[in-house]
Amino acid sequence: CEQKDKMSVSRLTWVLALATLTAAFGSSFQYGYNVSVVNSPSQFMQQFYNATYTERYNRPIEGNYLTLLWSLSVSMFPLGGFFGSLMVAPLVNRLGRKGTLLFNNIFSIVPAIMMGVSEIAKSYEIIIVARLIVGICAGLSSNVVPMYLGEIAPKNLRGALGIVPQLFITVGILCAQVLGIRNILGNSTGWTLMLGLTSIPAVIELLLLPFFPESPRYMLIQKGDEKKATEALQRLRGWDDVDTELLEMRQEDQSEKAEGHLTVLSLLSQRSLRWQLISIVIMNMGQQLSGVNAIYYYADSIYASAGVRENDIQYVTVGTGAVNVFMTITAVFIVEAAGRRLLLLCGFGICCGACVLLTVALTLQATVAWMPYVSIACVIIYVIGHAIGPSPIPYVVATEMFRQTARPAAFMVAGSVHWLSNFTVGLIFPFLEVGLGPYSFIIFAFICLVTLIYIWMVVPETKKKTFLEVFQMFAKRNKVEINLGHSNLRLKELKETPEDAVKVTTF
Ligand SMILES: *[C@@H]1O[C@H](CO)[C@@H](O)[C@H](O)[C@H]1NC(C)=O
Repeated sequence: CEQKDKMSVSRLTWVLALATLTAAFGSSFQYGYNVSVVNSPSQFMQQFYNATYTERYNRPIEGNYLTLLWSLSVSMFPLGGFFGSLMVAPLVNRLGRKGTLLFNNIFSIVPAIMMGVSEIAKSYEIIIVARLIVGICAGLSSNVVPMYLGEIAPKNLRGALGIVPQLFITVGILCAQVLGIRNILGNSTGWTLMLGLTSIPAVIELLLLPFFPESPRYMLIQKGDEKKATEALQRLRGWDDVDTELLEMRQEDQSEKAEGHLTVLSLLSQRSLRWQLISIVIMNMGQQLSGVNAIYYYADSIYASAGVRENDIQYVTVGTGAVNVFMTITAVFIVEAAGRRLLLLCGFGICCGACVLLTVALTLQATVAWMPYVSIACVIIYVIGHAIGPSPIPYVVATEMFRQTARPAAFMVAGSVHWLSNFTVGLIFPFLEVGLGPYSFIIFAFICLVTLIYIWMVVPETKKKTFLEVFQMFAKRNKVEINLGHSNLRLKELKETPEDAVKVTTF
């Protein structure tokens, strides 16, 4: 019994804290950095594309073609993210969690070198390919960092450590925005260095992470190496007696194996989970197609069309990033306290309103002198609205709607929808901006509204509900009957660990 007490209050040891920081800085920070790195130097990079094209073909580049090249350079990143997320399962089982994080640095250092030499090689194609590779790196790290941290953290710290990667992503976004200030690196000579700097966290991770233990769960379950698993746990926990925790890991694994795992295909054919799955897909599409990443990829161009003075844009962009960091910290507490449904409805409502107001502000920009300030306010309100609901909640709801057997398949679907929607926005937004001008944000407002209506009508409150209760709420819509006397289902349900659900992600 004393053992049990000790287990439930594991401390944050130095090894655990430093392993967390190394993985989060080396991988999550880098992911965030690459989200916003192309925003500030976009005008100089496009000049380089233009000049390269002109020199190569002896004629000026067409506006449309330049827009296409540019939107490809931006959107290859989320497309790479999609491929990266498909590579997660084979890699983490073969190389381990820490091993995958180390291996993943190849996908960071190689493109960093490519981007660094692109200017000398006079090739924008190199940049486009490099963005695809660095996207693979992001797709892998967005899945593997939370997995590694979840498996090295004791249960009582899982929720708290789960926030760390998220925070580092937003700090990475902010860092690229700060470096993108004209006097720092956001200029015609600094941009190659700025793109290449993504390799610094990668190199630091490569140097430091080998000194930290591999996930003990991986060592024990996948490798069957009890000695290594024990050593790893002893270092992470700071005490010698880790037998109880190892035993718990074995039991958890056995009960999971007994339940089995649904494949994506069998998940798609489960009628009892159909509307849960549709809800997850719509929420992830809504999250991305509402345009949040358009703001990080193209902030400067949005502010420029809002009439913000050329020199002020960089500081406004940095301000948006700072608000995002602050809101990500705040959101953690809000998400725990308030209901999921309420936050989703409020969040999408705020984003919808902000987009409508932004459209009005962009349209009236020429007539009223203070309109640029209204536009800035709209973008910031949008970022706040997105951070309290659409960003973090779809992930939380997904863990609450699917139990362990179906979760990996559900996350596979959700992740694919996430990256492909993200890719779509990155690719299309520049054309929307050219074609529709101020009205491009009406599309985002419309998507927020449709998502809001769907959530209003279909998605129930899932906070503090067991999987079975959620299952029941969906039963009628799924046209399945459930037999509550089925005690087997009940018993399995009780084994769910609530800690698993406490995790927050953005975009
Ligand atoms: C390409 O550069 C030339 C020369 O600087 C400029 O006149 C032209 O407008 C640029 N083309 C585009 C599509 O930006």
